[in-house]
Amino acid sequence: MSSVTEQSKLTAAPSIKIEFRLNGIPQKRDVPVNWTLLRLLRDDLGFLGTKCGCEIGECGACTVLFDRRAVNACLVLAPQIDGAEIWTIEGLAEPGAARLHPIQEAFIKYGAVHCGFCTPGVVMSVLALLLENKNPDEEEIKSALAGNLCRCTGYKQIIDAVKSAAESIGAEDLVKFGVNAGGRK
Ligand code: FES
Ligand code: FES
Repeated sequence: MSSVTEQSKLTAAPSIKIEFRLNGIPQKRDVPVNWTLLRLLRDDLGFLGTKCGCEIGECGACTVLFDRRAVNACLVLAPQIDGAEIWTIEGLAEPGAARLHPIQEAFIKYGAVHCGFCTPGVVMSVLALLLENKNPDEEEIKSALAGNLCRCTGYKQIIDAVKSAAESIGAEDLVKFGVNAGGRK
């Protein structure tokens, strides 16, 4: 009979080397091929702002930016991000900055954060929306947030916060995410 160590060697997934940028910082990792991006972020890199809710793509709590698009990190395999640009909630405000990112400030101002569990994912979906659309109307906001569940706010405060953020945000608040100072793609 084989030992536990021998058995785990037999069942362990092979690893693959990947390189990517996380919140603007180059990263190199050796990851098991069956790990999700969510697991890589939370369990390996310690970026706990990205929440783990359902792990089946239903709740949106794990939303991050993957090459400027909002994705559910629980549905992306870590090897898929090789060469990609990933942003998480930790990347919004500059470390040590006196102010939060305008999206975060608007969420606080409008009371759009209650328990806060959904908030990082919601904010990342809002960021993806505003990278593409400076002046979203209410239907476009609702559509962009359709994959983010919030059981506390009733969504009105969130929608009001997004409208306010869209008004106050400037190109300088988006340029590090890949938007030209002259406007969005
Ligand atoms: Fe990824 Fe729920 S944890 S969608
Ligand atoms: Fe609690 Fe959204 S603030 S789930």
